[in-house]
Amino acid sequence: MEIKKYPDPILRKKAKEIKEITPEVKELGLDMLETMKEKEGIGLAAPQVGISQRIIAVQLISERTVEEKTGKAPQILINPKIIKKSRETEIDKEGCLSFPGLWLQIKRAKKVEVRALNKDGKEVGIAAEGLPARILQHEIDHLDNILFVDRLGWLQRLKIRRRLK
Ligand code: CO
Repeated sequence: MEIKKYPDPILRKKAKEIKEITPEVKELGLDMLETMKEKEGIGLAAPQVGISQRIIAVQLISERTVEEKTGKAPQILINPKIIKKSRETEIDKEGCLSFPGLWLQIKRAKKVEVRALNKDGKEVGIAAEGLPARILQHEIDHLDNILFVDRLGWLQRLKIRRRLK
């Protein structure tokens, strides 16, 4: 799938809730996982491939752990929602497939709890900390038309203003 780059207007549209997990939704999920892997990303939201629906693909644990077959990642999450956020925050480097080559220090909650549906329509709960928590916040932001550059302080924003048309 082709990745929509900033300032594509779809990135500024709030994504719609998925009412029913149809074969098309499952196929979209599989395509997104494939695209994420191909682009060497660790997260991808449907608006980034031109589809304004609430579905994300995430790689929440390391490849090594995947090899150990925990069966946890990579995965798709449908209608994901942050139900709990720690007050404690963390600043770390972040990139986005819609902003190639742009790496920014972004402040995020250190821990989050997310509720979502998996590809089979089963409700899943995820408690994440550090990088996985950051990935979830970044991708769920995409569904609410919030981009990582929106999370910058004004001074940092000023520094990269040429990139933000
Ligand atoms: Co992104």
